[in-house]
Amino acid sequence: MIKIEHLKKEYPDTTPLKDVSVTIHDGDVIAVIGPSGTGKSTLLRCINLLEKPTSGKIRVGEDEITDRRCDINRIRQRMGMVFQSFNLFGHMTVIENIMFSPVELKGMSRQAAYDRGMELLRMVGLADKALSYPDELSGGQKQRVAIARTLAMDPEIILLDEPTSALDPTMVDEVQAVIRDLSTSGKTMMIVTHEMNFARAISNRVFFMDEGGIYEEGTPEQIFDHPQKERTRRFIQKLKVLEFDIDRTGFDFLRWGAEIDRYCQQNNMTTKEKYRICLALEELVHQILLPHLDCTQIHVILEHSSQTERTDLTVTYNGEQFDPRQSDNELSLTMLQTTAEEIRYSYDPDSEEPNSVVLFIKE
Ligand SMILES: Nc1ncnc2c1ncn2[C@@H]1O[C@H](COP(=O)(O)OP(=O)(O)OP(=O)(O)O)[C@@H](O)[C@H]1O
Ligand SMILES: [Mg+2]
Repeated sequence: MIKIEHLKKEYPDTTPLKDVSVTIHDGDVIAVIGPSGTGKSTLLRCINLLEKPTSGKIRVGEDEITDRRCDINRIRQRMGMVFQSFNLFGHMTVIENIMFSPVELKGMSRQAAYDRGMELLRMVGLADKALSYPDELSGGQKQRVAIARTLAMDPEIILLDEPTSALDPTMVDEVQAVIRDLSTSGKTMMIVTHEMNFARAISNRVFFMDEGGIYEEGTPEQIFDHPQKERTRRFIQKLKVLEFDIDRTGFDFLRWGAEIDRYCQQNNMTTKEKYRICLALEELVHQILLPHLDCTQIHVILEHSSQTERTDLTVTYNGEQFDPRQSDNELSLTMLQTTAEEIRYSYDPDSEEPNSVVLFIKE
C-alpha cells in the first residue's frame, strides 16, 4: 500500500503538485490521465523519488520514503519504472540487460537471473531475441524488453509513464497487450497514458489530474461515462469552450461574430452550424432578451465536443425569472427554434445568473 499525504512539488516557476493526498491499495491498477503539464510525470517521479518532494509524506508499506533516513536504493528496488524512452544498455544483449540489476543489486545468482530472465522474455514474446543487442530491435520490442527488465526485479509497484507514446503506431498494440496481461496479474500499477480506451480497459481506478493535483478520481465508468466535475467532463468529451459576457449597453456583434467564426474554424464545424449559432445569439439575446429584460449580466458559453460533434449554446442571465420560450416575439422565437434540436430553460434562484437557456444546436 502506498499512502501519499499532502504531497507538494514546487519548481522555481511552477507548482505542478499543490496538495495531493491519496491511498493506493495493493493490486490497484491506476490510470493517470489529464492535460499536458498537470503533473502526471511529476507524481510518478515523486513516488519513486526520482524527484524530491518539496513537502508532504509518502509511505510505501511500513516505510516512510520521504524520511531522510530512508535508504533510497532499497526503496527504488521495490518500484519499477518504465519510461517513454527505453534506456536499455546498448553494449549488453537483451538477456544481459535483464539479468543486470537482479545480479548486481539483489545478489541473485547468474543462473537464477538467467532462468527468470528467459521466463520474462517468453512472457513478452521475445525469447528468440535474448542474444540480440538493443539496436537490433524495433521500438516496440525494446519497450517489451524494458518491461521485462523492470519485472526482473520483482517490484511491488510498477510505474509506467506513457510507455507507448514514443512508438510507431504499428507497435503500440504489442506493447499494450503486454501491459494488459500484466494488469491482470495482481501487481500494483500506475500508468500515465493519453490513450483513453487503453486506460479504461486496464484500470480499476482513474486519476484525472488538473489544477495542481488529482482533480477527480473514480472507477473508469465514473470518470469516462459520468464525470462529475467540469474540467474532467471537458477533457473526456474533448470539449472546446468559448465564453464571453455581453454588455447590455453595447453588444458588439461584429467582434463576437469574428470570435465565433474562428472558434468554428478551429473545431472544423460547418458553415451551417456557424450560421445557426450566430442566428441563435441574434434572436435570443438581441431580439428576445435585451428588449424585455432589465438584466445587466448576460453570459454566453459555447461548447463543442469533437468526440460527439455536439454543440451546446448556453446563455445565462440575471434579473427576473424569464423563459424566452414564452416570449411574445413570435417571429424571433420561430427563427430561434430553427437553430436548435431542443431549447431548455431553467431557473435557479440561488445562482448569480439564475436564468439559464441551453440550445442544442442542429448539426
Ligand atoms: N525538472 C523540472 N524543472 C522545472 N519545471 C519542471 C520540471 N519538471 C517538470 N516541470 C514543470 O512541471 C509541470 C508538470 O510537468 P509534468 O512533466 O509532470 O507534466 P505532465 O502532466 O507529465 O505533462 P505531459 O502530459 O506533457 O507529459 C510543467 O509545467 C513542467 O514544465
Ligand atoms: Mg509527462
